[in-house]
Amino acid sequence: MNPPYLQAEGLEVAFGGLRALQDCSFTIEQGRITCLVGPNGAGKTTIFNAITGFLKPQEGSVSFKGRSLDGLKPQDIVAAGIARSFQNLRLFQDLTALDNVLVALPNMAGEEPIGAIFRPLHASRALKRRREEGREILAHVGLTDRANEFVRNLSYGEQKLLTIARLLATGAELLLLDEPASGLSAGALEAVMALLRRLQSDGKTLLVVEHNTRVVQKIADDVLFLHQGHLMAQGTPERIISDPALAEIYFGGAI
Ligand SMILES: Nc1ncnc2c1ncn2[C@@H]1O[C@H](COP(=O)(O)OP(=O)(O)O)[C@@H](O)[C@H]1O
Ligand SMILES: [Mg+2]
Repeated sequence: MNPPYLQAEGLEVAFGGLRALQDCSFTIEQGRITCLVGPNGAGKTTIFNAITGFLKPQEGSVSFKGRSLDGLKPQDIVAAGIARSFQNLRLFQDLTALDNVLVALPNMAGEEPIGAIFRPLHASRALKRRREEGREILAHVGLTDRANEFVRNLSYGEQKLLTIARLLATGAELLLLDEPASGLSAGALEAVMALLRRLQSDGKTLLVVEHNTRVVQKIADDVLFLHQGHLMAQGTPERIISDPALAEIYFGGAI
């Protein structure tokens, strides 16, 4: 039998006396959109940090396609095929949209900066290829017209799309998106949902932190429900959303 695509086992994360994750175990299936839901402070971002090497759990382990990720640095985990976005976007405000994507493209072999001095023609061709690749990624997220705009001049919705473009530039196959739809207008929300679906048809696997139950119902194949660091349930959106005990935790009973 194949190993699980992504598997977390017994994750424990404490900040002083606060137990942010408690015996957290789950698997993510390849090709699916899994939504990670739960009230504020449930530990959702902490799960992302634990998977992507931004913090080391006190207990437990994470494996990806049968390979342990324990002890790997964030950049090694990106190289292994997992990239994550941040709630606060972390874009370079004073660079253009295109340059924000270019900085995330992995370096090609033989593209060391010093090579540009000795082999200028080769270097300028390589640069042109990179820019073309960057433009293709921007087109894929619907930002073709905004390629040369500074990030600070982009709308919030466009900035959210750009963070996804930057993840795509890494070439990762498993994308962890932290609240990609929060704070968006109805139109921008539709654009992000359509993009997530498109990424799934491209063969990407997505783990998405999402608060809006309408969005969860529309995009999720599978839902993980987290509360006070405990994984309370895993199942289809229908099952999770219609569970009265979970609704009580999430909405104080009012769905
Ligand atoms: N670096 C940190 N230091 C101390 N406490 C933290 C840290 N990161 C998260 N926490 C706490 O851990 C809990 C879970 O946080 P988080 O994973 O960010 O929740 P969520 O993303 O579900 O809203 C919260 O109580 C939060 O205040
Ligand atoms: Mg969070």
